[in-house]
Amino acid sequence: MFDWEAAWHAALYGPGGFFARGEKPFSHFRTSPLVGPELAAALVELLSRVDAALGFPPVVDFVDVGAGGGELAFAVRSLASGSLGARLRVTAVELGPPVPLPGVRWTSSIPACTGLLVGHEWLDSIPCPVVTGPSSDPWIARWWPSLADGAQAEVGASRDAAWAAAVASVRGAALAIDYGHLVSSRRFTLTGYREGRQVPPVFDGSCDITAHVALDACAAAAGGEHVLVSQRDALAALGLSASVGGSGWDWLESAARAGRIAELRDPGGLGGFGWLLHGCSVAVADLLPSLPPWRPNPASFSPA
Ligand SMILES: C[S@@+](CC[C@H](N)C(=O)[O-])C[C@H]1O[C@@H](n2cnc3c(N)ncnc32)[C@H](O)[C@@H]1O
Repeated sequence: MFDWEAAWHAALYGPGGFFARGEKPFSHFRTSPLVGPELAAALVELLSRVDAALGFPPVVDFVDVGAGGGELAFAVRSLASGSLGARLRVTAVELGPPVPLPGVRWTSSIPACTGLLVGHEWLDSIPCPVVTGPSSDPWIARWWPSLADGAQAEVGASRDAAWAAAVASVRGAALAIDYGHLVSSRRFTLTGYREGRQVPPVFDGSCDITAHVALDACAAAAGGEHVLVSQRDALAALGLSASVGGSGWDWLESAARAGRIAELRDPGGLGGFGWLLHGCSVAVADLLPSLPPWRPNPASFSPA
């Protein structure tokens, strides 16, 4: 029988695998950290709230798991200032080759974190088994009960375990940002990306292979206090807003920034991503106000 999880793993992380040989998202698809520094600015605000809730520890961590090219880690390092900036330690966790960036240390395994751990489009790149219904798999029974006979499903247990282990390493807050679905809206989404195009998911290392994340299952696996909200709402709650003004070059820059924020908050695109935020010895209410629960919008969004 074909071992989907092993083939997926070899295609991304085995010898010559897509990410293992150093392919980075910027060459193949667009992610929020690649839009500009605005996501990082919002995460610095979130980190400052975590820092305050922790009582301003001597060292504050920002851990970026599945860091890719390190753009998010570097932007957070660059934007954090004052007391937070002076106490900040930024770690990029990545299985592929590191990218030398000032102020960012690289590692291949998740360190203990006192501060904020972020997995931005990390969980969708964790390989899964694929089953065909009817299936006796216990994860499917719990999290994909609607699986029809003959239909395929990605079994999210490996992602649940990875997220639970990551959250367990944190004192502060852990945040997964990803596209995904809920038990009420499951669908088979396995696909590939290469050089800006969606392609068939061929397991030969020539393309990224990804599938939507069962964020509700990840939340339950990690447990503890958590919320699952949309990127659109979370960015606004962290103070990210746009105003266009000034004149000449200042006006042009403010207009470009407003366009980037609109892209990050587009409910049919990046704004439709789920933010799964766990408080780890910190109350979630100290980090975000009450927001509507995340509702994935399968009609308008496919990963890119
Ligand atoms: C889709 S890319 C996202 C990169 C970046 N966070 C972004 O949003 O632009 C996923 C990245 O996660 C990395 N990755 C997957 N599993 C990992 C693990 N267990 N530890 C560290 N990095 C991992 C991959 O090598 C890849 O670079």
